Amino acid sequence: MSNIAVIGTGYVGLSSGACFAKLGHKVVCVDVVQVKIDNLNKGILPIVETGLEALVAEGVEAGLLTFTTDVVSAVEDAEVVFLCVPTPEDADGSADLSYIQTAARTLAPLLLSGAVVVNKSTVPVGSTKVVERELKRPDVAVVSNPEFLREGSAIHDFLNPDRVVVGSDNQEAAVRVAALYEKVGAPVVVTDPASAETIKYAANAFLATKISYINAVAAICEGVGADINDVVLGLGYDKRIGHEFLRPGPGWGGSCFPKDTKAMVKIAEDAGYDFGLLKGVITVNDQQYGRIVDKIRAAAGGSLKGKKIASWGLTFKALTDDLRDSPAVEIVTRLLADGAQVAVYDPTVSAAPKGLDAITVSLSPLDACVEADVLAVLTEWDEFRWISPVDTAAVMNGRQVVDARNLLDRSEWRRSGFEYQGIGR
Ligand SMILES: NC(=O)c1ccc[n+]([C@@H]2O[C@H](COP(=O)([O-])OP(=O)(O)OC[C@H]3O[C@@H](n4cnc5c(N)ncnc54)[C@H](O)[C@@H]3O)[C@@H](O)[C@H]2O)c1
Repeated sequence: MSNIAVIGTGYVGLSSGACFAKLGHKVVCVDVVQVKIDNLNKGILPIVETGLEALVAEGVEAGLLTFTTDVVSAVEDAEVVFLCVPTPEDADGSADLSYIQTAARTLAPLLLSGAVVVNKSTVPVGSTKVVERELKRPDVAVVSNPEFLREGSAIHDFLNPDRVVVGSDNQEAAVRVAALYEKVGAPVVVTDPASAETIKYAANAFLATKISYINAVAAICEGVGADINDVVLGLGYDKRIGHEFLRPGPGWGGSCFPKDTKAMVKIAEDAGYDFGLLKGVITVNDQQYGRIVDKIRAAAGGSLKGKKIASWGLTFKALTDDLRDSPAVEIVTRLLADGAQVAVYDPTVSAAPKGLDAITVSLSPLDACVEADVLAVLTEWDEFRWISPVDTAAVMNGRQVVDARNLLDRSEWRRSGFEYQGIGR
């Protein structure tokens, strides 16, 4: 058992903290937002994540997981301190390291001699050195340990990772961090800091590339009369390609891919390489938002002005409440800009988010459809599959559905009188 402090109790910090407690470590999670910590101490979670509430309760009950805003007490016994603070996009597309630097400066006078500071935030190549410079503590090692969990399956992913990546110039510190994951039984890649940092960006850039690629193929399918579902099936059985991450949709988004792909372009530029391939991937993604808006506009009769659009879904993917850089938010924003009225139903959204005050937030999928001209399915919540098209038709004005997730049963919706349009078929 190790004493761990986690700085930043957001999607990554809270999930990691609860999972490290599950693995038997003693964990203190720190945040600067008092209300978040007060709520966590009452058992109220700031995010929606499958299994997290039970895991937090289990950790607290076992005396292995605590929450505080007091970084001094959190760090005084900590052998390992994880940085899980935001690394948002800076004005030039690079990652903004100011949260990392602030956290490191705060930790500098507080750390035990021999402690290890770990960058779990997604940070560009060279950030391990940035943290070392801020700490000015030669007796404290800095290690890069990027996180690969996916929102919606964060706990499963953390406890069953495909691999653990640890990067450090200090072999002993790297081994200590790797040992924290001993019980998960995953392959451990121990490497230098630059390689560890590159692995994280290269992984996210590759995943974004897969999605943009299949969205581009889906566009071709529409032009040549092919069915993307069958094309993906035929592609995926090829072991060199595989089935994962080849689902066409409204484009990729969320809190990571948009900022990480731009940061990777900037990292490449700084390294003297023009990453034209990744720039293309980003362009294809932006075009995909436009393609979905075009489909909805066409379904509305050629103009969105004064048309009522029902949107099923607003989060960037199912099983999360995260709206950061959500493709659905981008598409709804464009619909509003073109004069549409938009009613949204999403199981985790109860009020209009900042910047989308003009939408109506509905209490059920059918409420959102009342008098709608077009229904758009923008997030792949499983519950949408089971809604009756007959009940939907009974409340809508129009009979148009644009299924940007290929989620609904196309034949059933067509049989019920809908003009159904999916992606790539
Ligand atoms: N969300 C994901 O799916 C995911 C996956 C892998 C990696 N990452 C990376 O992990 C990092 C964190 O992402 P997130 O989604 O958890 O962010 P988040 O915004 O959900 O959480 C960050 C938390 O840090 C807190 N914080 C900021 N400064 C602090 C400080 N000085 N001391 C204590 N707390 C502080 C904030 O209040 C917030 O609660 C980012 O670099 C991100 O790219 C995210």
